[in-house]
Amino acid sequence: MTLLPNQTSRVLSGMRPTGALHLGHYHGVLKNWLKLQHEYECFFFAADWHALTTHYETPDTIEQHVWDMVIDWLAVGINPGSACLFIQSRVMEHAELHLLLSMMTPLGWLERVPSYKDQQEKLKERDLATYGFLGYPLLQSADILVYKASQVPVGEDQVAHVELTREVARRFNHLYGREPGFEEKAAEAITKMGKKNAKLYTQLRKKYQEQGEDEALETARALLEEQQNITLGDKERLYGYLEGGGRIILPEPEALLTPASKMPGLDGQKMSKSYGNTIALREDPEIIEKNLRTMPTDPARVRRTDPGTPEKCPVWSLHQVYSSDEIKTWVQEGCRTAGIGCLDCKGPVIDAIQQELAPIRERAVEYEKDKGLVRNILSEGCDKARDVAKQTLSEVRQSMGLDYRQN
Ligand code: TRP
Ligand code: SF4
Repeated sequence: MTLLPNQTSRVLSGMRPTGALHLGHYHGVLKNWLKLQHEYECFFFAADWHALTTHYETPDTIEQHVWDMVIDWLAVGINPGSACLFIQSRVMEHAELHLLLSMMTPLGWLERVPSYKDQQEKLKERDLATYGFLGYPLLQSADILVYKASQVPVGEDQVAHVELTREVARRFNHLYGREPGFEEKAAEAITKMGKKNAKLYTQLRKKYQEQGEDEALETARALLEEQQNITLGDKERLYGYLEGGGRIILPEPEALLTPASKMPGLDGQKMSKSYGNTIALREDPEIIEKNLRTMPTDPARVRRTDPGTPEKCPVWSLHQVYSSDEIKTWVQEGCRTAGIGCLDCKGPVIDAIQQELAPIRERAVEYEKDKGLVRNILSEGCDKARDVAKQTLSEVRQSMGLDYRQN
């Protein structure tokens, strides 16, 4: 992707604090974060205000959930030296941007977000006909835009929220990116590129605007990228001018789709807290052993001598996550011929999970013992995040005519 001049290659993602994390989180979201933290500047945060949109009646659990979640992030190896870890409610700028965006976001855009009606249906026992819940995806937009993030790793269910974010950013830029005399300034900036480039830019812009050719837009952006003798301000204007409106104050992010976790739960369904089929990252090894030994298998294997079908067994799904081809062949043959018993079959999976979780649990214990350390990590993260967010808000206020300090 091409970045705009005021956009960094920055990854941002948040997680609602739902308490201690489990293997589903690890194999889905966290392993992806572990990879991203080496490739990009990463910001990861606890979305505690988002937790309140659904759990406003039980706010007392949120703090502990934030602790447990962040400790689990650290325990799996999210490194505060490479990723900035923070708490949403400690960076007030998210709230300010959310409020400002709410002024210009059409109600219909929020009512149309699929998760709005879905979740209301799903969580019927809660009253979610609230202002805050409707605003859930807009708060998420503010989370993203306040850091001018270029990429947002999210699961399938969150892609619509990133899409909304793009629309909101576009609308914001359209409304507030217009400085007085923008067109004249843009025209002047074009001439500064030199005759040949000016002509090319003008042609490409026309092609994009009249025929909607995305390729022309890409080429024009690449052309701007190369320009050495125009100022950064002019560059920004010309990026904005390509698409019409004005300067781009809030750049549009892209969703970085996280493949759905293949981690099955103890009953073969997707691992999820609401199904009660999870293995927590910090689970006691004896409980893990017990839960795996008693987990259901192919019901056809009533007696040890009855053959079974791995495809009908949740243990087989676990082998697919954890086992080598060799072990998988052993399972296939042994199960179909009743050559192995189900407990034999579970052995390698139990070992693999215990091995995977032992170092995570060990590190979690260290962090649990040293709350001060965790507090410092978060406090530094919050400071760093706030610095970036403050800068964005100052540009936002200025573009909206709210920058009273300068008068
Ligand atoms: N809504 C996200 C979820 O439920 C959490 C979230 C809040 C988020 N703000 C975000 C994710 C910003 C990415 C970017 O998973
Ligand atoms: Fe499942 Fe393994 Fe038992 Fe077959 S042998 S039913 S795959 S646990």
